[in-house]
Amino acid sequence: KKDGYDTFMLKEIHEQPHVIAETLRGRIHQQHIVLDELKDIDFSKFNKVYFVACGTAYHASLCGAHVLKKVAHLPVLSEVASEFRYNDPLIDEKTLAIFVSQSGETADTLAALRLAKEKKATTLAVANVLGSTISRDADYVLYTCAGPEIAVASTKAYTTQLVLLILLAYYIAQNLNQDVHDDVIKQLQLIPQYVDNILKDEPVFAQYAHMLKDMHDAYFIGRNLDYASVLEGALKLKEVSYVHADAYVAGELKHGPIALIEDGSVVIAVATQPHIAQKTISNIQETIARGARVILLTTHHEEVKNVQNTYYLPDVEPTLQAILVAIPLQLIAYYTACLKGCDVDKPRNLAKSVTVE
Ligand code: M6R
Repeated sequence: KKDGYDTFMLKEIHEQPHVIAETLRGRIHQQHIVLDELKDIDFSKFNKVYFVACGTAYHASLCGAHVLKKVAHLPVLSEVASEFRYNDPLIDEKTLAIFVSQSGETADTLAALRLAKEKKATTLAVANVLGSTISRDADYVLYTCAGPEIAVASTKAYTTQLVLLILLAYYIAQNLNQDVHDDVIKQLQLIPQYVDNILKDEPVFAQYAHMLKDMHDAYFIGRNLDYASVLEGALKLKEVSYVHADAYVAGELKHGPIALIEDGSVVIAVATQPHIAQKTISNIQETIARGARVILLTTHHEEVKNVQNTYYLPDVEPTLQAILVAIPLQLIAYYTACLKGCDVDKPRNLAKSVTVE
């Protein structure tokens, strides 16, 4: 069942090149994104897009929302499903509401979908399980092709959600006659290969885990799209290894959290967005000055002073980086949990599908 892997989580991490390729399959044709499932939607009628989801799916939504805003220039909002209903959402018939859920059975996400339908939004589900409640209830559905995800900690469902939400963002941009560079489409098709190459560096990430295994806390920092990535990195670490982890917008450190940094603290920084990488790197230096040990995942090739653990990600289009950086973050969490002897596939107190509110 585990194909020779010790755990489902590791097996599912390694399935990512394949399932990402499956999710892309048939959806790019002659440098165009083709999402036939959505062909009768007139995207010009929307004045707003809501993304609603829980947990890891919410983090994928944050990335999707970021990319959609950037490439289609539409106002976007992302909310956690358990908050959405009680936050007086601004929904009407000019709203596209996107619900992201691996299982398609998460109670809060389903309740949020019902509310959006009552308020006459056009609803779109991004689901992994065929025939799940969400896919039956939404007006439209796009399936990720992750296959069954057994480990409680989501890995391949997350990266395939990212792929699909990025495809969707560029598809909407195309439909609204925004410029979509051929280069982005070419690089999207190369993502499975890039992911495969990063997986070959597994021993590097296993080594980083030694820095975390005896820690009570870990600090993740990033800006822009990288902030969504570090939120997911921190969630993965805490759920499988029980190391308390928080993610911060790097620029917010000096507004409070830096008070926590002391000799030996571990900071995991993600800096993949060229226009802002240098700013995150300055924030790293501020933590190093207070004794932090840093793991830096970046595309920024200039030497970064005093950072011993730098991993260079392939220099692809910035909107695609969340997919690539997910792999080191998953493996760091995985190996930290293994070093601590945790039950990686079944973390305490968690269920694979949260069907109660
Ligand atoms: O099935 P869903 O995508 O709706 O699940 C949402 C969350 O419960 C889920 O992503 C959870 O956060 C994972 N355990 C994270 O690894």
